Amino acid sequence: MCEVRADMKLKRIACACLAALFAAVSPALSAGTPPSEIAVNTRNFKLELVVDEFGSLLQKGFGPREAKFPPVSENSAKTREFDFYPAYGNGYLDEPAIQITHADGNVSTQLVVEKVDRSTDSDGNELVAFSMKDAVYDTKVELFVKAFPELDIFQMWTKISNAEEGPVTLYRYASASPLFCEKENWLTQFHGGWANEMNMSEEKLTRGVKVLDSKMGVRAHKCRNPMYILSLGGPARENSGTVFIATLMWPGAFNFTFDFVVQQRLRTVNGINHFGAQYVLDSGESLETPKMLYACSSAGTGRASRNLHAWGRLYGMRDAQAPRPVLLNNWEATYFNFDEAKLDRIFDLAKPLGIDVFLLDDGWFGNRHARNSDKSGLGDWEVSKAKLPNGLGRLCRQAADRGFGFGIWLEPEMVNPRSQLYEEHPDWVITVPRREIIPSRFQMILDNTRPQVRDFEWGVFEKILRPNPICYVKWDANRHVNQPGSLYLPARKQTNLTVDYNNNLLAMMRRFASEFPKVGAMLCAGGGGRVDYASLANFTSFWASDNTDPVHRVRIQWGYSYGYPSNAISAHVTNMGRRPLRFAINVALGCAFGIDMDLSKLSAADMEALRDAVQLYKNTVRPLTSRADLYRLESPYAGARSAVAHVLPDKSAAIVFAYQLADGGRAPLKIDGLDAEKKYRVEEISLPAGAVSKMQAHGKTFTGRELAAGAAVPPCEKFCDSSVILLSEVK
Ligand code: DGJ
Repeated sequence: MCEVRADMKLKRIACACLAALFAAVSPALSAGTPPSEIAVNTRNFKLELVVDEFGSLLQKGFGPREAKFPPVSENSAKTREFDFYPAYGNGYLDEPAIQITHADGNVSTQLVVEKVDRSTDSDGNELVAFSMKDAVYDTKVELFVKAFPELDIFQMWTKISNAEEGPVTLYRYASASPLFCEKENWLTQFHGGWANEMNMSEEKLTRGVKVLDSKMGVRAHKCRNPMYILSLGGPARENSGTVFIATLMWPGAFNFTFDFVVQQRLRTVNGINHFGAQYVLDSGESLETPKMLYACSSAGTGRASRNLHAWGRLYGMRDAQAPRPVLLNNWEATYFNFDEAKLDRIFDLAKPLGIDVFLLDDGWFGNRHARNSDKSGLGDWEVSKAKLPNGLGRLCRQAADRGFGFGIWLEPEMVNPRSQLYEEHPDWVITVPRREIIPSRFQMILDNTRPQVRDFEWGVFEKILRPNPICYVKWDANRHVNQPGSLYLPARKQTNLTVDYNNNLLAMMRRFASEFPKVGAMLCAGGGGRVDYASLANFTSFWASDNTDPVHRVRIQWGYSYGYPSNAISAHVTNMGRRPLRFAINVALGCAFGIDMDLSKLSAADMEALRDAVQLYKNTVRPLTSRADLYRLESPYAGARSAVAHVLPDKSAAIVFAYQLADGGRAPLKIDGLDAEKKYRVEEISLPAGAVSKMQAHGKTFTGRELAAGAAVPPCEKFCDSSVILLSEVK
C-alpha cells in the first residue's frame, strides 16, 4: 500500500475509533469537545494521558498534582516516544511494552483506543479502562489504571485478547510502562538470595538500559524482590523528595527495564519476564498481565511505604486486622530429626510459654521413602509411621490439651525423584526431555499445567486439612525452574509454561484461602524467595528469610519494611549467630513474633525471658504494631544503630525499637511521626525480669516535639544492645 493511502486508511480507522470513544467516556471529561486529555488522579498525584488525533494513547506526565507537564511533542505520531504502552514495530525505537507476532506473521502492532470506561468501586477507588485494538488486526489490548486516591497508589495492568483467525505470539507483554521526565533518576533495588534477602543498593541511572529481573520461573530467589524505588531528581530520602515505590504482584519471574533514552525521558517497562517466555495465544484466548503497583510520594520513601502498608492491609494480605499468632516452629530446633516422644516433650515445655500455635515443619511424612532429609519423600503426603505412628490427629489433640493450636508445613508444588509419587508419575515434573536433570535441593517442580497435577496438589490440602483440626499452614517452595519444559503442553506452547504455572499457582492459593479461611498461613519459598502481593493476598504473613541471625535480620526486615507491613513479616527468636537472647527477642518483637529454639536446651532464665516476651508481644506490642504507621528512624546501612517507630494513626501511642549493630556511644534518638503538641510518657519495656531501665528518659514525660528533637537516649552502646521504648500519651 502506498504511504498516502495507508495514512488515509489509518485516519479513517482513527476517526471511527474516536467517535466510539467520545460516546463512551464519562461526560465529566468535557462534553461536546474532543476528550483528548484524560487525567487519573489521586489526592496528591496524577497521571495525565492524551488520546491523539490518530487514537494513540500517549502519556503527558506522571507525577505530583502541582507539576506542569509540557505538551506531548507534535512529532509523537512519528516517533511514538510518548506512547503510554509502546508497541514494537510501529516506529517506536526504545524498549517496547508489547510485541506481537500476528497470525499472518506480521511483527508490528499499532494500538488505537476504541473506548474509555471509568468506574468507581465501593471504596471510592477509580478504575479507568482503555480498550485498544490493533489498527489492522483483531487483537485487542485492554489497559487498566486504577487509582487509590487517599493512598496515592496507582495500579496498572493489561489484558491481551487474540481475536485473529490463528495463533499470535506475545514476545513482550508488560503490565505497565510509564515514562518519567526528570533529569536525574535514582534506582534502589532489593537484591539477594537464600539467607541473604533484601539487600538495598541505590544507583543513579545513566544513559542506556538497566534491567532488574528474576529468571527463576516460579520464585525470585538468588535475584531480588519484585520491588524497586525510583527517586526523581536525587537519591531517595526518607522524608522528602518525589519517589515511587513500585512492585509487581506476581510470584514468578519478572522484568523491570529502565531505558534512559535522553535527558528527561526515562521509559520504564514492568511486568512478567518475557525471557524464554514468549506467550502463544490461540484464537479466542486472552492473557491478563499481573498488576503493577506504584506508591507515589512527594515526601520521601517514608510516606510511600506507609501508604503501601495501608494498601497491603486493605487489599494485599489476609485478615490484616486479626492478631498474628505466636508460633513455636521446630525447624531450627530439630530439623528432620523428631518423633512423637520428642514432640511431646516440646509440647510440655511450650505450654507455660503461652504460644498460640505449634508449627510442625518439614519431615513428618514419607513411608516407602522416608523424609529424613531433603533427599527423599517429598510428594508422599502420608504421615510417617516411623516418626508419628499415631498420626496428625493425636498431635492436634496434644497441642489442644496444652492450650495451643497445631500447624503444619507443606510443599505441595514439589517432588523428590526418590519418592513414590515420582516413581508412579515421572511425567508430572517440569523437565526438558533428552537432557540430564540438573537437580536443585534434590527435588523437582510438579508441572501444574497438567490437570491431574492440579488435582493432586489440591488433594494434598484436602487430605491433610479436612480430617484434622489444623489451624496453620506454612506453604514452602524450595526450587526454581532451570530446565523449563512441560511434558503436558504441546510443542508450540512450551514457552507458555511459567506464565501458566504461576497463574495456576495463584488460583490454587486463592482456593486455599477461600476454602480454609480460618487456617492461618505463612508464605515461604526457601525463606523469602516468593514475596509479592498477589501471593500474600492469600496468606497471613511471609517467612522473610532462613537467616534468623538477629543482626542480619535487622537489615533484612528493614528492607522488607519498604513494601510490607510489619505484621506480614514473620520473625522468630532463634539461636542463630549465638547473639544475646534479649537482642534476638527485641528484633523478632518488631514483626510477626515467633520462636524456633530447642526449648530443652534453654535455661530457666531463658525460658522465663521467652514467656515474658510472648506476653509482652500479645498484650502490648501486637495490638499496637498491627495497626500502626511505620517511621524508619535510623538505617542499618548508615551507622552503628538502627531504629524504627510504630506510631498509632491517632498519635496516642508508639513503640520504638533501637538496635546497636556495632560498638558506639549512646546517642539521642530523634523520633518521627509523633504529635508535636502531645505529651508522652516514656517507658523502656522488654527488659529482663527484675531489671531496671538504664535510660534517663524512662518514666518521664516529654512532648512529641521534644522526642523528635532527641529527648530519649536509648541505653544502647555495645554491639547487640537493644531497647524497646513505649510512648503513651498523657492527657
Ligand atoms: C525452607 C524454609 O525456609 C525453612 O524455614 C524450612 O521450612 C525448610 N524449607 C524445610 O525444608
